[in-house]
Order: sequence, then C-alpha cells, then structure tokens
Amino acid sequence: MAQVWTSLNWGLLWLVVGVLPAFSSGEEQRLQLSLNGKWRLSNSNGSLHLPAEVPGCVHSALQRQQYIQDPYFRFNDVMYRWIALDNWTYTTTFTASPQIRVKQKALLVFDGVDTVASVSLNGIVLGKTDNMFRRYDFSVRDLLKDGENVLEVAFLSPVLYAAERRNAHSSYAVPPECPPDVQKGECHVNFIRKEQSSFSWDWGPSFPTMGLWKGVRLEAFDILQLVQLSSLPLYSPDRSLSQWRLQVELLVDAVQSFHGKVEISVSELNSKRTAPTTFLQGKFNYSFTLNINQIREVKLWWPSGLGDQPAYLLTVRAFLGTFLVLHKESRVFFRTVELIQEPIAGSPGLSFYFRINGRPVFLKGSNWIPAHSFQDQVTPASLRNLLQSAVDANMNALRVWGGGVYEQDLFYDICDELGVMVWQDFMFACAMYPTEDDFIQTVREEVVQQVQRLKSHPSIIIWSGNNENEAALATNWFNIPASLKPTYVKDYVTLYVNNIRRIVQQEDPSRPFLVSSPTNGAESEQEGWVAANPYDPHYGDVHFYSYFLDCWDWKTFPRTRFASEYGFQSWPSFSTLQPVSVQDDWSYSSNFSSHRQHHEDGNHLMLQQAALHFILPNSTFPLKRFTDTLYVTQVMQAECVKTQTEFYRRSRSEIIEGKGHTMGALYWQLNDIWQAPSWSSIEFGGKWKMLHHFAQNFFAAVLPVGFEDDDDTLLVYAVSDLSHDLELRAVVTVYSWADLDSVCTLTSSPLLVSGGSAGVIYKQSVAALLAGCGHCTRLTCLLTFHLQDEDGVQHGPTNRHFLCSPKDAVGLQRPNITAKVQEDESGFTVSLHSAAVAPFVWLDVGNIPGRFSSNGFLMVTRNTTVKFVAWRPTSVGELSGSLTVTTLTDIY
Ligand SMILES: *[C@@H]1O[C@H](CO)[C@@H](O)[C@H](O)[C@H]1NC(C)=O
Ligand SMILES: *[C@@H]1O[C@H](CO)[C@@H](O)[C@H](O)[C@H]1NC(C)=O
Ligand SMILES: *[C@@H]1O[C@H](CO)[C@@H](O)[C@H](O)[C@H]1NC(C)=O
Ligand SMILES: *[C@@H]1O[C@H](CO)[C@@H](O)[C@H](O)[C@H]1NC(C)=O
Ligand SMILES: *[C@@H]1O[C@H](CO)[C@@H](O)[C@H](O)[C@H]1NC(C)=O
Ligand SMILES: *[C@@H]1O[C@H](CO)[C@@H](O)[C@H](O)[C@H]1NC(C)=O
Ligand SMILES: *[C@@H]1O[C@H](CO)[C@@H](O)[C@H](O)[C@H]1NC(C)=O
Repeated sequence: MAQVWTSLNWGLLWLVVGVLPAFSSGEEQRLQLSLNGKWRLSNSNGSLHLPAEVPGCVHSALQRQQYIQDPYFRFNDVMYRWIALDNWTYTTTFTASPQIRVKQKALLVFDGVDTVASVSLNGIVLGKTDNMFRRYDFSVRDLLKDGENVLEVAFLSPVLYAAERRNAHSSYAVPPECPPDVQKGECHVNFIRKEQSSFSWDWGPSFPTMGLWKGVRLEAFDILQLVQLSSLPLYSPDRSLSQWRLQVELLVDAVQSFHGKVEISVSELNSKRTAPTTFLQGKFNYSFTLNINQIREVKLWWPSGLGDQPAYLLTVRAFLGTFLVLHKESRVFFRTVELIQEPIAGSPGLSFYFRINGRPVFLKGSNWIPAHSFQDQVTPASLRNLLQSAVDANMNALRVWGGGVYEQDLFYDICDELGVMVWQDFMFACAMYPTEDDFIQTVREEVVQQVQRLKSHPSIIIWSGNNENEAALATNWFNIPASLKPTYVKDYVTLYVNNIRRIVQQEDPSRPFLVSSPTNGAESEQEGWVAANPYDPHYGDVHFYSYFLDCWDWKTFPRTRFASEYGFQSWPSFSTLQPVSVQDDWSYSSNFSSHRQHHEDGNHLMLQQAALHFILPNSTFPLKRFTDTLYVTQVMQAECVKTQTEFYRRSRSEIIEGKGHTMGALYWQLNDIWQAPSWSSIEFGGKWKMLHHFAQNFFAAVLPVGFEDDDDTLLVYAVSDLSHDLELRAVVTVYSWADLDSVCTLTSSPLLVSGGSAGVIYKQSVAALLAGCGHCTRLTCLLTFHLQDEDGVQHGPTNRHFLCSPKDAVGLQRPNITAKVQEDESGFTVSLHSAAVAPFVWLDVGNIPGRFSSNGFLMVTRNTTVKFVAWRPTSVGELSGSLTVTTLTDIY
C-alpha cells in the first residue's frame, strides 16, 4: 500500500521540496532536458556511421548526409529497399545535471518510436518498443550517471519483424500476405503496429521507415508529473440548471501518494471548482466534472460555413497544502455531436447523418492520407496549406484514413481553428489482423493513449475502428474458406468490438463510434458486427468506385446515405513530376509512368474513361503529348467527381425508390504522399489539381445542380446548406459551341429554398428547351445556369450542363486564348481573352508555387480575369514566362 502524504507530513515535504531553487515561488519545479537534435546512426554491420536528426528517420538521415538521393526520385523506392531490410541503431550522449539527478523521479520519454526497438541507457536495457502509435516512458533516475550518459535505441528491420511475426502465427493465415506486385511493396504489414501504407499502397511507395519520429526528453520531478490533460464538454438537455458540464481528466504520474486538492476553472464562464483529491503513487487518471455557469451564454464551436470556432481557456491547478504542484492551461470548445440512425418514412433501413449542436449537417470533404512517407518532413506550413486548401474549397470535413497515422497535434489544432470536422479512423486498413495477447495489449495501450491525446479536439466528431475490414470479411476479399470465416469474425469482434470499442466508450462517451468504414452501423451490429452487405445504401456509409462505367451517368452511382469514399485517378502536373524524373520518363508509356502507377491498369483506365467524352491527345511532339495527357486525366477526374458529388448533394432531401437522404460526400482523396498518379485533388507539394478547383464550386454552400432524367428532362436543383431560407430563381442560359454570344435565357419562377435542403427549381424537356431557343441541337449547344434572388443577386457559382460529349460537339473551335499577367496593389492578375467558347481552360505557371483564384473553367465570355496568389516572391516577367493556357481543343 502506498504511503499517503497528508498535510501533517510537512517534514517529508520540506525534504523533497526544500532543495528546489524555485521553492520561494511555492511551485513545484520540474526539469526537462530535450534529447532532440543530433544523434549518431549506424547500420548493423557498421559500414555506415552518420549524424541523424531526432525527430527523424533513417531515410531522412541518409538523404540529408547525401548517402542516398531523394528517395522519391525515379525508381529509388525500389533501389533503396535495402534500408528497411537492415537494422539501425540511434545513439546519443547527454549530461544529466546534479539538479536533475537529485529529483525523486526521472523519466525518459519517447513520444514516438518507429517501431520495433530495444532502448538502453548506459548499457542497461530499459525496455522494448513495438508500436509506433504509442508514447513510451522509462523510469531512469537510478541509472543516470555523473558526466556522460549513453542512450541507445536499436531498431530491428520492420520488414523482418513483420515476417517473423507472421511465421510465428502458424495456426492460420492472416491475409493479405503481400501487397499486389504493382505496388512493389513489402509483406505482412498487418503484423506490425506501424503506418500500414509505409509498406506501399495503391497511391504510395514502400518506405518502411525506422527512427525516433517524435521527440525524446528527460523529465525530472519531485512530486508529480502531468502526462495528459483532456477535457470533454458534455451536454445534458434535461438538467434544468446546468446543461453544460466539462469533464476534465488528468493522467498524473505521482512519486508518492498524497492528499491534495485540484482546482479547475473556466474564468470567462465564471465557472470554478475545487476538489479534494488523493493522488496515488504511480500513473493514474483523475476525473473532475465542472458545471458550467449558465449565466453567460456558452459560445458554440461550429463547422466551417455554419459559424465560428470560439475557444475558452481552461485552467487546472493542483495543490499539496498551499504548494502549487501542477499548473496547466488548455483550450476548450463546446459543441455536441450525434450520429442519427433512425427509421425514415418511405425507406427501408435507417438514416445516417450527423447532428452538430442539434443541427443536421451535410459533411462535404475528402479523405486524408499521410502527407509524406517521412513524417519528419511534414512541415507545419505544408499541413496548414493543405488544411486551408480544404476549407478554401468549401469543405467542412476530412476523414483521417485508417492506413496512415494518427495525425500530429498541430493537425487537429488547425482543424479546431478552421472548423474542419474529422472522421477519425483507428489505424487498421484493408486486412485481417492477428489477436495474439501481446498484439491486443499493445493495441489497447495505443487506443487509450490516442483517445486521451485527441478527445479534447472538437474537430473530431467520430471514431471509427478500421478502414474496410468489415467489407473485406463480408465480401471475402481474401478468399477465406467458408468453414474458416467464423474464426476471422471472432478475431474481428475481439479486436474492434471487445477491445477498441470498449476502450473508446469508456474513455470518450461524447462521440459516436463505428466499428468500420464502410459499415451499416446499427444494422451491422444487429448482424453480429459483420453485415451481409456493408455497402447497403439503406444503412451507414458506403465506399464506391467504378472505373469502367461512364462517370457522366449519375444513374451508375449508389444513392447512399453517406458517401465516405469515391473517386477517380489523375496524374499530377508536369511541374510536380519534373524534379523526380528525367527526359526519358516524360511519356505516358515510359517505365517511369508505369512505375509510379500503383493501381492495376490505372494508366489505361484513366484514358479509357477520358475517351468516353474527350478526344485524346495525339500531338507528334512527345513532351506536348505527355503534358496534354496529364491535362486530360485531370479534366476527366474533375468532371467525374463533380458529377458524383453533385448527385450526392442533390439527394439530401429526397427518397427515391427507398434510397436517399444522403448527408455526406467525402471523396477519395485530398492529398498525395509523393509525385505519382492518384485519386488526390491536391498534388504533392500543394498544387491544386483541376478537381480541387472544381470542389470549390461543387461544395459551395448554395449550388445549382443540373442533370437529365431518363425521359430527357432537364432538371436543375437548388441545393442549400445555409441555416436560413432564400427565395431564388434558376436562370438557364443557352450557348452555341460556335458563338460567344448566348442564344437565349430562360428563367424559372421564384421558389422558397429552405436552409438545409435540395429540390427541383427548374424542369423542362430538353427537346422543348432547344426547340424554343434558336437553332440549337444537342450537338451544337450547351447550357449554363445559376441561382439568383429577387434583386438579381447571384447565390452560389454558375454551373453548366453539356448536352453531348465535348468530343462530339459541333462548332467547337480553337479559341486562341491570349493571356496577360499584370500586378496591382491586390497582387497578380491574369487577363484572358478568348475568340470562342472554351471548355476546361487551364492556367499553369509551372514550378512557381501558388494558387489561381479559379481554374479549369468554361469560358463563355470574351474576357475574364483570374487572380494568382504566389507562395514565394515572383514577378510579372517570371509568371508571363511560365504561363501556359490549355483548353480541350489544344490537345489534338
Ligand atoms: C554492410 O551492410 C550494407 C548495407 O546493408 C551492405 O551494403 C554492405 O555490403 C555490408 N557490408 C559488409 C561488409 O557486409
Ligand atoms: C537484424 O537483426 C536480426 C535480429 O537480431 C537479425 O536476425 C538480422 O540478421 C539482422 N539483420 C542484419 C542485416 O544484420
Ligand atoms: C487511465 O489510465 C490508464 C493508463 O495509465 C489506462 O489504462 C486506463 O484505461 C485509463 N482510463 C480510465 C478511464 O481509467
Ligand atoms: C524499361 O524497363 C525494362 C524492364 O526493366 C527495360 O528492359 C527497358 O530497357 C526499360 N526502358 C527504358 C527506356 O528505360
Ligand atoms: C484560331 O486561330 C486559328 C489559326 O490562326 C484560326 O484558324 C481560327 O479560326 C482561330 N479561332 C477563332 C475562333 O477565331
Ligand atoms: C477584352 O480583351 C481584349 C484583349 O485583351 C481587349 O482588347 C478588349 O478591350 C477587352 N474587352 C473588354 C470589354 O474589356
Ligand atoms: C489528331 O486528332 C485530330 C482529331 O481527330 C485530327 O484532326 C488531327 O489531324 C490529329 N493529329 C495528328 C497529328 O494525328
């Protein structure tokens, strides 16, 4: 039984604190020694010795010391495979001051070890690590020496470890064994608690990293140490007095047990509480509930587009007698989240949507993957740029996908600030997983730590156990014999339900938890956690991909409750590929182009989809033909994802043939891990693809969506995510492909468009529309349309509808667009002049980093102006020299 210090124990307390230099301030003085910075790194046979930065990894160190080239250059992912097959040792020396060594407790803290390593101090093994997603600490007070201390972290090849673990699991296979050959990856990643995509993915290279990927430090203290502070705002509408409560949790490591008190306050809300507390020796959680004074109105955190993201300051202090032993401040936010799964009139199944602060919210956004193979090379600026790009494209949500990493604190801080809702997966993806005791134990600790670290963030609105593992089991991706299926279902339930779900529900009662994505949610639970068809559009979320069907035909898309993944590939722009390739590589049929494509037959599928509507590039100049091909893949991708997303957005209010009430569209995928073809809308380095520019429009709060129904009826829907109603008309303008002057304009009668709805605002048969409008036919004309109010003010972007494929359009001419770059007090502008209707006008300034205000647009005016925001100093001359303008007719 631990000794309990009481207020009478002043003698002992004096002994402990009496040596503190800062005792006069009445506050415990903790000492911290950062061990980040330069370490030494060597491989197993000692042939390589080099300095290595911590945080960092072996690949980054080798590159920085020029032992290897840029690992992303050409075929280097395969050339440098040896790095992950070797074992590597990180070593550093440090001096622990006498002040540190007299402290009662000294902890060596590793915020992240990637992954399998043995840690030793002065030749004594402190322990082993096997999970990159855990923090490890070791008590080292009595091992610290006067003078130089030697700290060593010896890493075992993760590839070797995964293979060893697989071999030790002899009773039955845990598929998949290896990734498809086209990914050029390593095997058995599901046996190691490490970023699953680091062994390769269908959009990323195989770089199984090793290293200290987060900070290392020595912490010394006499009384206690706060390991983690978390706060959860809880809302109880039925409590008459205090509706908001703040649950504050402290994970504390105490040297000795003692009676003290904890004081918690949110002073801006006049809320304060003091609680007598007995701290026990060792590491324990302490939970306190602060009732929020309702005299002041609590300002709520809202998703982007629906309101602000106000924060309050929480102050936590702990005392031993009058002596301050802990003082910590953190931001708190108030918001509620509910996932509504309830019967819908006229539809089998259950609804599936999020209610934030009591309001149904349509989730608009994308899926997030790791921003770099080497996490130490993800800069704060690059994170911010990606997240700002998401918000600037009118997204309000991102799903942190389960094959990557639990993102760094800064990621969630920025999401909190910007109002980006996060669907947070646990890091399991596209595989079965083992359930040996030590595997489960390390996962349990991972889950506790991650939930405690992340649960204070209002941006996170849901936890989800894994990516696609329910679907993999239900639809038998891995050809598991029927007789063995119960074994795998049992393992599945053990890992995600009996362990992860149980821990999350204990640690975080404030958010919904789903076992998988996609899932049928409540229905999957009814079916024993693995539904017969996890892709059922009547329940939960759906992932849907179709590369062979015509993406312009919205009838091919499932009318799901919530689309959490869908997408099409494209190539990044030439300026992104150029630094990692040479001239030989610059053709669509080069070895390089095949090498970078990790999706089976992907390059061919892109052109096949593009050829349904566009004439493919056929220039006789190889480089032009290559860049034109990159362009046409982006056009195809942008148009496909636009069509699919608009279908989901217009389905939010209706039930058709029992399906609908779609309340989420998160396309796959936001960002890239390297320079290669993928489903992303932002290239590696931050350049927006055409799709991202399109997203800015198709995710706009107010959006007109046009499409044709079976009987050749043109329908325009008014979609609104606003909280207020608007009275709007649709204005449809008919253009001939051959002429910049419009043929005619049709206007609907006004309609009340309720906030948070989608419905028909304009309806007419295409034949009647064309007959009443000059000499138009489907092949000679196209439509644009927008919404406007009684005062003629436009709401939302102008959209358009093609009545035929551009490849069949009659009258489409070379528009001979000219461009002029200018600079004024507002920055750079590009003035464009066109001689004809020009679809998919694409401006590119090569490797000058920055962003155009609009791009990939349809030009139906002679003149237009686009702004360019540069991310580094540039000039009119440099921009003019780099600027290219491409439209469809330029590529053949
Ligand atoms: C030592 O290891 C390196 C890297 O794995 C390898 O290239 C080299 O051939 C090895 N040297 C000896 C002497 O075995
Ligand atoms: C790495 O360490 C393991 C375990 O000690 C050993 O089996 C393996 O041979 C080592 N690899 C190399 C390249 O030395
Ligand atoms: C408290 O902390 C420990 C880790 O030290 C953890 O295992 C436990 O689950 C935590 N949570 C609760 C609610 O007890
Ligand atoms: C492409 O790769 C193949 C097979 O590795 C090789 O034979 C061929 O020479 C390469 N071609 C070029 C142009 O590098
Ligand atoms: C564009 O230039 C070409 C070649 O000079 C010319 O034939 C064509 O008519 C021009 N296009 C338009 C719309 O004027
Ligand atoms: C349109 O642009 C052209 C070429 O830059 C210019 O000569 C003309 O004056 C512009 N027209 C208008 C209406 O701005
Ligand atoms: C490319 O295709 C276009 C349209 O089919 C055709 O007019 C043109 O002659 C072709 N050019 C070459 C170089 O084959």
